[in-house]
Amino acid sequence: MGLERARNIADLRELARKRLPRMVFDYIDGGADDEITLRRNVERFRDIELTWDALVDVEKVDTSAAIMGASMRLPFFISPTASSRLFHPRGGECAVARAAQAAGIVYACSTLASTTLEDIAKAHQGPRWLQVYVWRDRALVEELLTRAKAAGFTGIVLTVDLPVAGNRERDGRNDFSIPPRVTFRTASQALAAPAYMADMLATPPISAANFAHLKMESGIIQFVNAQFSRSVTWEDARWMRETWGGKFAVKGVSTPDDARRAVGIGADAVWVSNHGGRQLDTAPASIDMLPAIAEAVRGDAEIIFDGGVRRGTDIVKALALGANAIAIGRAYLYGLAAAGERGVARAIDILEDELKRDMMLLGRTRVSGLTRDLIFQRRV
Ligand SMILES: Cc1cc2nc3c(=O)[nH]c(=O)nc-3n(C[C@H](O)[C@H](O)[C@H](O)COP(=O)(O)O)c2cc1C
Repeated sequence: MGLERARNIADLRELARKRLPRMVFDYIDGGADDEITLRRNVERFRDIELTWDALVDVEKVDTSAAIMGASMRLPFFISPTASSRLFHPRGGECAVARAAQAAGIVYACSTLASTTLEDIAKAHQGPRWLQVYVWRDRALVEELLTRAKAAGFTGIVLTVDLPVAGNRERDGRNDFSIPPRVTFRTASQALAAPAYMADMLATPPISAANFAHLKMESGIIQFVNAQFSRSVTWEDARWMRETWGGKFAVKGVSTPDDARRAVGIGADAVWVSNHGGRQLDTAPASIDMLPAIAEAVRGDAEIIFDGGVRRGTDIVKALALGANAIAIGRAYLYGLAAAGERGVARAIDILEDELKRDMMLLGRTRVSGLTRDLIFQRRV
């Protein structure tokens, strides 16, 4: 199957699986512990049923949306994910950023990107955000924020569900690390993915590009564990918010109480997420947490949603249950791994086509019209 014949995100996942060494595919595809939250994020969408309004003029459908001051052509955007060059060594972050720019959507860059902020800014001139953590070394954080501002990033996203990396057992089994280490297992997996390996060998080594000047000897995961302060609290989040001064989102909120705390420190957006099931396993599916959080926020901040989005109907459901915009993670990463920029563009196209068709089928012509009454309330 070629890229053009990929009809849905599941097809892109299959293409990614064929192209990548197993350890890299598993790093994208996997989750924590028994991967219960990972699966539930996807499956719980299937339990939600939609109803439609018939005989509505749906000749023109407007998919535009706005989030944290950014106008977008679509109500979904690129979620931050670490080290894109690992998934497509030649294209990396710039391939994703270019596809997002062409689609008119926000690009949110991971702190652990394998490309510098300055290079990403050249690939995406539209609204772009930087995801951050509160490192032990505050000077390092301040330096990063100053660089982000200088490179024209308009928002920052503080991820709060990662006081320590989750237990991703597939990675341990595969001897996986960033950058990859050579062991018998990793070498034999690499040999089974010749096209990927040729790209990897022809391009510069993968690093946490924004911290390259720090001379990381041990690799990104070790760097993260060393820099993660496990004593970070809401006071530190407030410090981050004040130090930055611009648009600010708190990512990784899973309860109404934390949503109110985020509002309390002045967040512009509360980002409902469980890190795609990669952190605390047996956390509820993200979509199950959304309605109560939307109710608690009561319009005092915008709401971003991620977790398990693979279909246009998933986007509709999250918007109907209170989200202002949806972030996609694996959906575009499968496209990136399958075919670089073209693959990301294909992932965005697939979701756009599905969303437009779904809006017509639902009888709703605007994103603001995707409201809770579309969700079927089953009588038990
Ligand atoms: C391979 C991978 C790397 C990720 N890296 C980061 C990261 O660096 N920072 C972050 O805040 N979230 C990260 N995430 C989480 C995503 O931003 C997002 O919350 C998650 O992927 C949403 O779930 P989905 O993949 O089902 O769409 C990562 C996710 C994946 C799959």
